[in-house]
Amino acid sequence: MKILVTGGAGFIGSAFIRMVLGAQEPVRGARVLNLDKLTYAGNPENLAAVAGDGRYRFARVDLCDAPAVEAIFEGFRPEVVVHFAAESHVDRSILSPEPVFETNLRGTFTLLEAVRKRGVARFVHISTDEVYGSIPAPEQADEGFPLRPSSPYSASKAGSDLLALSYFTTYGVPVTVTRASNNYGPCQFPEKLIPLMISNAMEDKPLPVYGDGLQVRDWLHVEDHCRAIVAVIEKSRAGEIYNIGGNRSLPNLDVIRKILEATSKREELIRMVADRPGHDRRYALTSAKLTAETGWAPVMEFERGLEATVGWYRDNPGWVERVKSGEYQRFYEINYGAR
Ligand code: NAD
Ligand code: TYD
Repeated sequence: MKILVTGGAGFIGSAFIRMVLGAQEPVRGARVLNLDKLTYAGNPENLAAVAGDGRYRFARVDLCDAPAVEAIFEGFRPEVVVHFAAESHVDRSILSPEPVFETNLRGTFTLLEAVRKRGVARFVHISTDEVYGSIPAPEQADEGFPLRPSSPYSASKAGSDLLALSYFTTYGVPVTVTRASNNYGPCQFPEKLIPLMISNAMEDKPLPVYGDGLQVRDWLHVEDHCRAIVAVIEKSRAGEIYNIGGNRSLPNLDVIRKILEATSKREELIRMVADRPGHDRRYALTSAKLTAETGWAPVMEFERGLEATVGWYRDNPGWVERVKSGEYQRFYEINYGAR
C-alpha cells in the first residue's frame, strides 16, 4: 500500500512512519512518501530509523505549493493519504495566526484538490478534540458534539475538518476525520506542556503554569494514537469522524507534579504565570465509536508512558538542543538546498 504522509517529520507523523515501516508491519506492504516543509517543528532526525529504508522517501514540499503537491501525486500515485501536517501549537497560533490559517486551511485545501483530481482509496484527516472547545464536567464529546473552537489553532482545525468532509459529500472523496486528545511521547517539540516541563525540569528552569493549573486534558500516548490511525485506515468508514482518546483525564498541575517526581526535582520550580487567552478549561471525549467499529483501545498506562517519555528526553539531550536551535533547517539547506 502506497501511503502519502504529510507532516511526517513532526512528532506524531514520524511516530506513525516508524510504526508503519517497523518490524511488526501493521500495514502489509507499506511504502511511504513523507511530504514535509520542515518548519521549526519538522525534524529529519525523528526518521533516522527509516532513512535508509527502500520503502521510505522524503520530499521537502510546502503543502500550499499546489504544483509541487500535484507533482508528488503524479510521481508517487498514493493509495492512502494520512494528513498530519499542520501548525499545531495553540500558543503560537495566538501570537501569530497567519501561518496557522495558511497551512491548516489553505494547505488542506491544496491537498484535497490534488486528491479530488487524482483519486485515492482513503484520505485520513488528522484532527483534534480541541475543535469541540471547552466541555463542562461531567460531559464527554462524541463525534456529534457541537464545534466550539476557542483558539486560532482549533478554529483552523475545525474549518479544515469541515472542508475535508465537504469533499466527501460533494465530490465523493473517501475522507475520514480523526479527532485525538493531547498526545505525549518521544520526539515532541518542547513547546507543548509535557516535553516543555520535562526539558525545563531537567535544566532546573521554572515550569510556567498558566492560570490556576487546574485545566483538564485527556492524555493519549503517541503510539496508541498511531495504532488507532492504522485501525482507521484498515477498518473505518469513509465520510465518518472518529474520536481517539487516551481515557486518562488529569489537571495540568497533576501532570506537572508527576514530571517533577519522575525527574527528581522539587515543587519550587513551579511558577504560576498569566493565563493563556481563551484558555479551554476542560477537554473530554469518548472514543466508543472507534472501539466499537475497529476494536481499537488505548493500552499505554499514563504513568508508565510518562516515565518512558522522561527517560527518552533524559537520554536525548542533544535532540532537544538541536530542535531548539533550528539546526536541522540549516543542515537541510546546506546539504540538499532549498526547493
Ligand atoms: P508537529 O508540529 O510536531 O509537526 C507538524 C509537521 O508538519 C512538521 O513536520 C512540519 O514541518 C510540517 N508542516 C507544517 N507546515 C507545513 C506545510 N505548510 N507543508 C508541509 N509540511 C508542513 O505536529 P504534531 O504534534 O505531530 O501534530 C500532527 C497533527 O496531529 C496535526 O494535524 C495536529 O493538529 C494533530 N493533533 C496533534 C495533537 C498533539 O497533541 N500534538 C493532538 C491531536 C491532534
Ligand atoms: P499544550 O501542550 O499547549 O496543548 P493544548 O493547548 O493543545 O491542550 O497545553 C496543554 C495544557 O497545558 C493547556 O491547558 C495549557 C497548559 N500549559 C501550561 O500551563 N504551561 C505551558 O507552558 C504550556 C505549554 C501549556
